[in-house]
Amino acid sequence: MKTIYTQATADAIQQAGAILKNGGLVAFPTETVYGLGGNALDSSASQKIYQAKGRPSDNPLIAHVANIDQVTPLVTQISDEAKRLMKIFWPGPLTIILPKSKLVPQETTGGLNTVALRCPDNPIALAMIEAAGVPIAAPSANTSGRPSPTNAHHVLEDMDGKIEMILDGGECHIGLESTIIDMSEEEPTLLRPGFITKEMLEHALGHEIKVDAAVTRQVSAGVRPKAPGMNYRHYAPKATLILVSGERTNIVASINQLTEKERKLGHKVGIICTDETISLYCADKILSMGSRKDMDSIAQNMFRVLREFDDTDIEIIYSEIFSSEGLGFAIMNRLTKAAGHQFIYV
Ligand code: TXA
Ligand code: MG
Repeated sequence: MKTIYTQATADAIQQAGAILKNGGLVAFPTETVYGLGGNALDSSASQKIYQAKGRPSDNPLIAHVANIDQVTPLVTQISDEAKRLMKIFWPGPLTIILPKSKLVPQETTGGLNTVALRCPDNPIALAMIEAAGVPIAAPSANTSGRPSPTNAHHVLEDMDGKIEMILDGGECHIGLESTIIDMSEEEPTLLRPGFITKEMLEHALGHEIKVDAAVTRQVSAGVRPKAPGMNYRHYAPKATLILVSGERTNIVASINQLTEKERKLGHKVGIICTDETISLYCADKILSMGSRKDMDSIAQNMFRVLREFDDTDIEIIYSEIFSSEGLGFAIMNRLTKAAGHQFIYV
C-alpha cells in the first residue's frame, strides 16, 4: 500500500475523513500522541488497526469523538460523575470508560462490554472526526511495543506502507497518552495515569478514587488487568533500559561507574538524564529529557528520547528517575514499563 504523507491542510483533513468513512486507516495528531484511526463502528477497520500495529486483538481501542453528544449512542448509560468529568476535562487528555451499547462492535473493545471514550484537544483531530462523521477508534500510532509517536516522522517510521494516510500536525505538546478512568462501575478507578492527574480528578469529583493495581505493580503472568494494554511490554526501546534509583547525590557517580564497567566489557552504553546533569556524564550517547524544573517538558520529550536510541547501536541505557508526584506519576509509570521494571538501587 502507498501511504500518503501530507501536512494537515483543510483539503487533506477532508480527504482523511473520506478514507475513514470508506473503512481505511489514517494516522493523525492529538495533544497527547499520534493516533492510528479507523471507523470505530466498523469491525473490519478495527481488525486492520490491530494488523497494522501488530497488536493483540484482545487489547481494546479508544473511540475518539468530536463532542459530548457523540457519546450518547455509544453507551448504555452515563453517570452524573462521568458527565461532570467530560464537561470539565473535554476536549482534553482524559479517556473515560463506560458500558458500551450494541452499536460498538466487540472487535473495537477487544471483546469487553465497556468502551473507552475520548475527545482530543487538537483542532486537526476534531475536524477529521467531524469530516468522517463517525467515532474514530485510535490506539497510539506506533508498532505494538515501541515508544508512542509524538511527531508524524515517528509514525512514518512504523506505519509506512501499512495505512492509507498520515496527517502531519507537528509535535504533540503533551507527549504522554491520555489518563484513563473507569467510570463503568460504582467506584471510579484510575487505569492509566497521564497529564490529568489523580489529584485533578479527585478535586473534580469531590472524593478519592481508586488506582488499579496494574498502574503501580507488574501484573503477574496470566492475570488480565482492567486495561488490558497495561499488561504488555510497552514503550520499550531496542536497547536494555535500566532505571537507576537512590540518593540524588549518588546517582551521577553511580551511573558513570555502571557505564564504565559495561564499556570495558565492550558494550555501547547510553544515558538518559536531565539538563541539570547532562554535562556530568561520560558515555557513547547521552540525551536529556529536559529540566527537572519543567516536568511538562520531561513528559513531552520522553518517547522521542527513547526512540532516538533505536537509531543507534547502543545496547544498554541507564536512566535517571523522577519523583512520582503530580505528572511525575505518569512519567514514572511509562519509564518503568519501558524498562520492563528493571531498577538498580544505588
Ligand atoms: O492519548 C491517548 O489515549 C492515545 C491517543 C491516540 O488518543 N491513544 C492511546 O491508545 O494511547 P492505546 O490503544 O495505545 O491505549 C489505550 C489503552 C490500552 O491500555 C487499552 O487496554 C485501554 O486503553 N482500554 C481501551 N478500552 C478499554 C476498556 N473498555 N476497558 C479498559 N481499558 C481499555
Ligand atoms: Mg499505545
